[in-house]
Amino acid sequence: MADEAVDLDDERYEKHREAGEILAQVREETVERIEPGVSHLEVATYAEDRIRELGGEVAFPLNISIDEVAAHDTPSADDERVFGEEMINIDLGVHIDGWLADTAITVDFTGNDDLVEASEAALEAAIDTIGPGVHTGEVGAAIEETIDGYGYNPVVNLTGHGLGHYDQHCPPNIPNRAVEQGIELEVGQVVAIEPFATDGGGKVMEGSRTEIFVLEREDAPVRDRTSREAFKQIVEEFTTLPFATRWLDVRRPEMALRRLLQHEVIDSYPVLKEDEGCLVSQREHTVIITDDGAEVTTR
Ligand code: CO
Repeated sequence: MADEAVDLDDERYEKHREAGEILAQVREETVERIEPGVSHLEVATYAEDRIRELGGEVAFPLNISIDEVAAHDTPSADDERVFGEEMINIDLGVHIDGWLADTAITVDFTGNDDLVEASEAALEAAIDTIGPGVHTGEVGAAIEETIDGYGYNPVVNLTGHGLGHYDQHCPPNIPNRAVEQGIELEVGQVVAIEPFATDGGGKVMEGSRTEIFVLEREDAPVRDRTSREAFKQIVEEFTTLPFATRWLDVRRPEMALRRLLQHEVIDSYPVLKEDEGCLVSQREHTVIITDDGAEVTTR
């Protein structure tokens, strides 16, 4: 490990903490609003507006993932879906000047309390394990063992991740199972730990629905006006962070996005799902690795 001292009172860490505080509050207030009959779009708009009201910036669209869907669903502009007696994962992010916080929670109306508890307990086990010098594989092992103990499977092809400056997914990966490859964690790293537990096989696949995208390159060889306008908004407003189709102000966003995708100007995040009929729960906190363990910024 490098000898240079990391100052955890540095401005960037203060911004991570501030982002975390806002995020924790918005998570709790958003959970309060979720119940059968309430619309997805209303909840997403509420959460995203509330983040800005409290002085944060939205780091990525509110993910609302239902039942077998583990991640990456978010309402479209004309979305008519309402919550039912379902297992609902919400995942949200805030940044202050690019310094991020990321958190997720499951709201359950299916009565599968133990599946919700499995990912919660796994996250706590991971937080108890994590610290400087700890191998990421050990953190994964703590998650896997805990979820196993509840009789469920961790989703092994989704992982926790580092949070960089305006970078929502950077090294190190925090696996949701014991792995050999990995790294030793260091003081000052900011990581999101996010165990997913499921009664399915534990591997998610891409679905066809795609509402979340991210900028890949800063030049766009597209000529039509709609695509040019969309590109301009993405570069200026969303920069390197993920955005939703419904955030675009252009008239035919789907067409613009299709074209930008064709030219690999943007990348897409299709929904990730288990087999139909399965359920997935999720819990996530952001932590700063400290000298004696980890500080959770999103409690
Ligand atoms: Co995350």
